[in-house]
Amino acid sequence: MGACVPEKRLTNHDLEEMVSTSDEWITQRTGIKERRILGAGEDPVVLGTKASHSALASANIGVEEIELVITASNVQIMPVPGSSALILDGLGERQGSRANHVPFFDLVAGCTGFIYALEVARRMFFGGYRHILVIGLETLSRFTNWQERETCVLFGDGAGAVVVGPVEGRRGILSSYLAADSSKWPLLRVEAGGTRIPASRETVTSGQHFLKMEGRGVFEEAVKMMERASLLALKQAQVTKEEVAWFVPHQANLRIIEALVKRLQIPWTKILVNINKYGNTSTASIPLALHEAAKDNRITQGDLVVTCAFGAGVTYGANVIRW
Ligand code: ACO
Repeated sequence: MGACVPEKRLTNHDLEEMVSTSDEWITQRTGIKERRILGAGEDPVVLGTKASHSALASANIGVEEIELVITASNVQIMPVPGSSALILDGLGERQGSRANHVPFFDLVAGCTGFIYALEVARRMFFGGYRHILVIGLETLSRFTNWQERETCVLFGDGAGAVVVGPVEGRRGILSSYLAADSSKWPLLRVEAGGTRIPASRETVTSGQHFLKMEGRGVFEEAVKMMERASLLALKQAQVTKEEVAWFVPHQANLRIIEALVKRLQIPWTKILVNINKYGNTSTASIPLALHEAAKDNRITQGDLVVTCAFGAGVTYGANVIRW
């Protein structure tokens, strides 16, 4: 695993200078204290290549051993080509040799993207691909309306990457549950910039390129969906929630996580939370949390880990992993 976040910290106190908000409101409603934000001139591809590079190093393999790249993101680095192309190109350069002939694609499944991508990678592995690089890269700060207090306090930028490959014994991804309710897509959206409403002077002035969100609706759906996905993935893996060492919910909002924990009736000591430091980093939130906890030895070999998320679409899902 590897991860990368921008250097620049944006604290709640910084936000107090930008919109009508307070550290107290943000902390109470979301659990966020600060987030990392890309600087104006910084290229998001660097987050993806740095996270990937450290994942390759920790897996002890070179980029030439990667047979497939999948990047999960809400919004791509460029409309064309997909982010995977740019990340892979950047990785080739970093290694001093270009990775040729490696297929790649991007996966858009909201904040559940990383969970979807892990399951796709697992299936591709059983289809013959030996080492698959899975990346969660998100720079929603570039789609955030920094004058709208309802959304600008929530998001942060970051990237996480994993190499999916062979493991011994009954370890690795044991099961996944993927689902969605497409009728609820209006809850989270960027309206313009695609083919339905192409970018124009008017879409820019009317703010249609910013992320829009119905916060309450998202909150209610998120709790139910993550509970359902976790329980169904556990059932599929034929393990119980009591056997789980760590639950890693998507870091969208501390209150959503608290409500989920209450519904699932699991002890708080089993929950990984780092939203206070990074905010909601969307597709990067789960790999960032996993990476951090593996690095400081909270997650250790043999641990049963459950990840769960919800996101734009509205998608939701969970993975059950034996570390
Ligand atoms: N600072 C101060 N006041 C604020 C702020 C702010 N940053 N934002 C909203 N308010 C005000 C509102 O204007 C409103 O004022 P009013 O009562 O005078 O009208 C009041 O606070 C309450 O607003 P609500 O929207 O009712 O606040 P709520 O308790 O629902 O919390 C929140 C809002 C935090 C957005 C919550 O709904 C939430 O967490 N929703 C889920 C968001 C989420 O997870 N989104 C991403 C998911 S998908 C993805 O990750 C891409």
